[in-house]
Amino acid sequence: MSAKVRTVYRCTECGADHPKWAGRCDVCGAWNSLVEETAARATPAGGASRRAGGARALAEGGSVAVATRLRAVSGAESPRWTTAIDEFDFVLGGGIVPGSMILIGGEPGIGKSTLLLQVAGRLQAAGHSTLYVSGEESALQVKLRADRLGHDATGDVSLLSETNLETILATASALQPAVLVVDSIQTVFTADLEGAPGNVGQVRECAARLMRFAKESGIAAFVVGHVTKGGGIAGPKTLEHIVDTVLYFEGENSVDHRVLRATKNRFGSVDEIGVFRMTEEGLVPVANPSELFLGDRSMHASGSAVTALLEGSRPILIEVQGLAAKAGFGTPQRVATGYDARRLALLLAVLDKRAGLSFGQLDVFLNVVGGLQLHEPAGDLAVAAALASSVYDRPLPHDAVFVGEVGLGGEIRPVSQAERRLAEAANLGMTTAYLSERAVPRRVPSGLRAIGVRTIAELFDRVFAS
Ligand code: TYD
Ligand code: MG
Repeated sequence: MSAKVRTVYRCTECGADHPKWAGRCDVCGAWNSLVEETAARATPAGGASRRAGGARALAEGGSVAVATRLRAVSGAESPRWTTAIDEFDFVLGGGIVPGSMILIGGEPGIGKSTLLLQVAGRLQAAGHSTLYVSGEESALQVKLRADRLGHDATGDVSLLSETNLETILATASALQPAVLVVDSIQTVFTADLEGAPGNVGQVRECAARLMRFAKESGIAAFVVGHVTKGGGIAGPKTLEHIVDTVLYFEGENSVDHRVLRATKNRFGSVDEIGVFRMTEEGLVPVANPSELFLGDRSMHASGSAVTALLEGSRPILIEVQGLAAKAGFGTPQRVATGYDARRLALLLAVLDKRAGLSFGQLDVFLNVVGGLQLHEPAGDLAVAAALASSVYDRPLPHDAVFVGEVGLGGEIRPVSQAERRLAEAANLGMTTAYLSERAVPRRVPSGLRAIGVRTIAELFDRVFAS
């Protein structure tokens, strides 16, 4: 065991350090902003001087390291370890990079432990020995889950029920696994800090040391971080700058699929998503997410429109449902699920002003089907079409997709990568695509008609005419 290192309490607002914890930073006055940190070696006093003597003084105490010319850096891109869980490898950018640390965030109960146990089993099967450290569940609980997952190699994964970081690192040094899973970072603590497990200081220090361990030993480390709602527990957000890759596991409790999203990736592109279906035997990758999201669509109801989003590099079709119903009394309601409420208010105003649809006496409900979040402006046109369809109580053509940003003047703006979106629409049997006139690509996938429209009024004239 190492001796206790000196700790300081640093203000997360202004960066000032304090020898003791206090409820308020006496430098900037922020409340509850001090977090425990192990102190770095003190830097020599005195500001930077332009004279060489001053520079030498600053460098005192350091040893000279060898810098390499970039050209001379050898080695190709390191091989990646794949799990054979396609969607998982895809989100990581083609597999796991040895020596990297990956944070998996998500709300409690979303399926993080299940996913990582499956990943551990597959990596073990591929010959990468795996140590699974569980600070939350007993060995028996993990075994019961592994049995349920029913993958043979999961039985060969080494398991450690432990929360002390020093013990975890010592065990990992002795066992020398290729992969280390820590479930969860909020349960792990180091004896070097006084704070309770889960507080910001502990979580960051433990993560930083795990990261160092991964880099030095060349193992791949997975760390689970629960998304917390308030309270004294530090969430995964506090770790994002430390780790190489951040994956968030999203989904609604009411639906049985989950979306894994890369929000940071030093070894791949961000915003890639992987879609999984939850089953008794664990998570099953969904090869064609659009099919899943459009699966339960009612073809003939009003208020339903399909759009093609780009999630990372991948186009996905989803359904948007709008319902405008006579308001009972008082202020009409505006309820948006999976869509920004202010964006909805804006679209309602545009529909009123530019297409003569009045929502003043109507409750408006908007739902992005499948628990997805629709952030892309490209979805505006589908939202507008769904709402208009509900007001007119006329269904939209069931084999049409709507792609475009709606401007304040009611104009329809082009979106990026229209070709990719249309290709996905054609794949799923759509026959018509409505999009900005300027976005109609030169080559349109066969079987699909791309119709350019300039304004929402023009769109409604076309689809609701006859
Ligand atoms: P769990 O992996 O424990 O969630 P987390 O680690 O994020 O808190 O999963 C929560 C529960 O859901 C657990 O009882 C197992 C169950 N579950 C399934 O039955 N099948 C699945 O595919 C997944 C992901 C979870
Ligand atoms: Mg868990």
